[in-house]
Amino acid sequence: MNNVVLSSVVLLFMAPQISLAATETQMTQDNGAPVGDNQNSQTAGPTGPTLLQDGHLLQKLQRFDRERIPERVVHARGTGVYGVFKAEKDISDLTLAKVFSAGTTTPVFVRFSTVIHPKGSPEELRDPHGFAMKFYTSTGNWDLVGLSEPVFFIRDAMKFPDMIHSLKPSPISNVQDPNRYYDFFSHQPESTHMLTRIFSYQGIPSSYRKMDGFGVHAFKFVNSKGEVTYVKFHFKSRQGVAGFSGAQAKMQQAKDFNNLTNDLYNTIKGGKYPIWDLYIKTLKPAQLNDFRYNPLDDTKEWLGVPETKIGTLTLNKVPDNFFETTEQVAFDPSNLIPGIEASEDRMLQGRLFSYADTHMYRLGANYQSIPVNRPKVKVRNYNQDGSGHQTLTSGDVNYQPSTTSIALKDNPAYKKTTPELEGTVQQQIIAKTDNFEQAGIFYRSLTPQQQNDLIEDLGNDLMQVKNEQVRHTMLSYFYRADADYGRKLTEHTKDDVGLIQKMAENLTD
Ligand code: HEM
Repeated sequence: MNNVVLSSVVLLFMAPQISLAATETQMTQDNGAPVGDNQNSQTAGPTGPTLLQDGHLLQKLQRFDRERIPERVVHARGTGVYGVFKAEKDISDLTLAKVFSAGTTTPVFVRFSTVIHPKGSPEELRDPHGFAMKFYTSTGNWDLVGLSEPVFFIRDAMKFPDMIHSLKPSPISNVQDPNRYYDFFSHQPESTHMLTRIFSYQGIPSSYRKMDGFGVHAFKFVNSKGEVTYVKFHFKSRQGVAGFSGAQAKMQQAKDFNNLTNDLYNTIKGGKYPIWDLYIKTLKPAQLNDFRYNPLDDTKEWLGVPETKIGTLTLNKVPDNFFETTEQVAFDPSNLIPGIEASEDRMLQGRLFSYADTHMYRLGANYQSIPVNRPKVKVRNYNQDGSGHQTLTSGDVNYQPSTTSIALKDNPAYKKTTPELEGTVQQQIIAKTDNFEQAGIFYRSLTPQQQNDLIEDLGNDLMQVKNEQVRHTMLSYFYRADADYGRKLTEHTKDDVGLIQKMAENLTD
């Protein structure tokens, strides 16, 4: 009798613990029903076929079959982490953006990436590097989808798909081919600056912590009076900027081809948080004509324009799950907030369309409700339904205008600025191209060792170009940027320096 009582007491005492643990670890199907056997399929007897009625088996295979979403069409290989941006300087005379209100801290998600190479590719392959930032601000998400270089190859969105096709592997061999991309770039002299940077140490960073980040395009700051100031963003790494030569990259790749991800994850997990200082350069609209280039051309830096430090970015948390965050994060240059508008930069204008479009294809119409993309403020509008829809926000009134008191209202205080326009509709290249000067300035800013590495790596790449006309045209661009640069490259490729010099002299700017 006593034994029975005792064992009941023991059972009663232990029961909650056992049942709690069992509930927590009980496997379920996607509908929540408990799974009885996750090792053996239902079969017709010991020797018969597997049964169609085994819903758990079917669901397990179906879900596995659908684990991959489309890879990003560019920037597929990337690494994302969380962090915080702190605004430090009062710039309310320039912008009403809350994210820049002095003292404000804003959570961010940042994704670094290469551009051309696929999702599992080695991280030492030469490429521009993405530096994409999502600021979860108190007036909605602001995405600054930038690069580790201050400029881009081309200046019109119309050319982007062709440029990427030429850089991606050949549709016949599935191998990247310099013959194809130099064929394209030989028609784009404005790419001389970016190509010079990409074939320098900047094209293969030794660490994501040791890259600067640039917004590349000009944006518009708008203050509370509706006044516009053009602005460029530059995040300067406190860790310095460092990269590999082609030869060093090969050695690194043999040791660890995930080195950029491992380095970033390990330093953040070890509590050594990388920091960037945000600097801005600004121009008033009336100043846009003061330069020999067009300041709204993304192949140009604003050289000589003074810069001001306005805040710091600190990366401090590695995500718990790669797919949920880094794969599903969806940056979009058209995610702008009050106080920041797009400039008339022709590349940026094309990007304002392209990103939401690709996200709807890659992640579905409701991609902005995926947790990593979801704003920290409440979203209220009448966009509805579609695949991936999660919450009903509108009740019975899902239209506007409406006489009801619950209908959502817009607010004219948030209307966009109304810049003046002139001229006719046209399809013309911009007036001031200035294709070569800044490439030369960049070349001359390199140390002798960095110049030698550039000549070696770019020269080796150009030597693979079989079409003489294409190779000579490319060499003439580099020669036009800087005679020493062009001569050394031409000697490296064993072409005729006199010929290249003449071609360079005949180029228009
Ligand atoms: C990613 C299009 C120019 C920076 C992407 C993606 C597309 C795209 C479709 C993939 C997005 C995804 O699937 O998540 C374009 C078009 C351009 C253009 C049409 C020109 C018209 C640029 C420029 C920059 C840039 C000039 C830099 C200033 C990036 C970055 C990513 C990206 C950083 C990766 C974002 C991430 O980490 O998820 N772009 N792009 N792109 N683009 Fe562009």
